[in-house]
Amino acid sequence: MNAVMSLKGRDFLTLLDFSTDEIMDLLALASDLKAKQKAGVPYKPLAGKTMAMIFEKQSTRTRVSFEVGMIQLGGQAMYLNGNDLQLGRGETIADTARVLSQYVDVIMIRTFAHQKVEELAEYASVPVINGLTDDDHPCQALADLLTIYEVKKTFQGVKLAYVGDGNNVANALLAAAAKVGMDIAIACPPGYEPKAEYVEAARRIGEKTGATVVVTHDPLEAVAGADAVYTDVWTSMGQESESAERLKVFQPYQVNEQLVKAAKPDYLFLHCLPAHRGEEVTAGVMDGPNSFVFEQAGNRLHAQKAILVSVLS
Ligand code: CP
Ligand code: NVA
Repeated sequence: MNAVMSLKGRDFLTLLDFSTDEIMDLLALASDLKAKQKAGVPYKPLAGKTMAMIFEKQSTRTRVSFEVGMIQLGGQAMYLNGNDLQLGRGETIADTARVLSQYVDVIMIRTFAHQKVEELAEYASVPVINGLTDDDHPCQALADLLTIYEVKKTFQGVKLAYVGDGNNVANALLAAAAKVGMDIAIACPPGYEPKAEYVEAARRIGEKTGATVVVTHDPLEAVAGADAVYTDVWTSMGQESESAERLKVFQPYQVNEQLVKAAKPDYLFLHCLPAHRGEEVTAGVMDGPNSFVFEQAGNRLHAQKAILVSVLS
């Protein structure tokens, strides 16, 4: 656990900032915390600690799992709606960061521009955790790694296929897979590719870890022989005005019974949720025997508890 101990005071903005060893240690800690919780063993290393959670977008999983996680670890979390803060009336991110740092031990934020989270982290004297931006969703990707590792027991030779929008979740998965040496293939419509900086970073990292990185417009190519098939909504938060156009563009990228035939027979179906059955995934796949989506959602709790313990103690 030495590498984890060294995360004290660190921000958690993107998995690109963490080494392979640090990520593997976070996963080991998450497993350990999960086992403790399942066994009913109380573990409260964060007694007396407080977390501020700023939300500028909606959330079910992130909000509830962070709040419950903090409570289970002995601390407290407070939900702050961005519109109710002075931030919503123009107080700067930098001033908000400096003020909140006087009161709380850690800040989690879900917002639009990734740069806002970076600015918050720059000015806060306490760790800042990214609870989703337009570019990244590192807490989700850590939970996704945990879910895959629990089933496959390794990342070497494991192939993750992501089919759909090259969005924040796709970017986060590129970083995650590359760091742990898992092969990743992303299939998306032309013009909806993941951010070039994530693709380039993943390829660079993959040269060292052994992860292969493929971005294609062919869903069958991505899913062929995959151990895990992942999708996400076609319209992310903040893109609602594009939803009619996206509904058309993404139609050939639906994860359905036909497409998953190309995956390994024991493939895991994954989705960060919320899901739209009949759009990015059929009900048959989403609710079928290969679906791990609720285990995956559950793992948000354990992965985030590992992050909290690591950056705070
Ligand atoms: N997957 C995820 O982040 O869910 P919420 O938007 O409900 O937090
Ligand atoms: N890509 C989705 C993920 C939601 C958890 C969004 O940003 O809305």
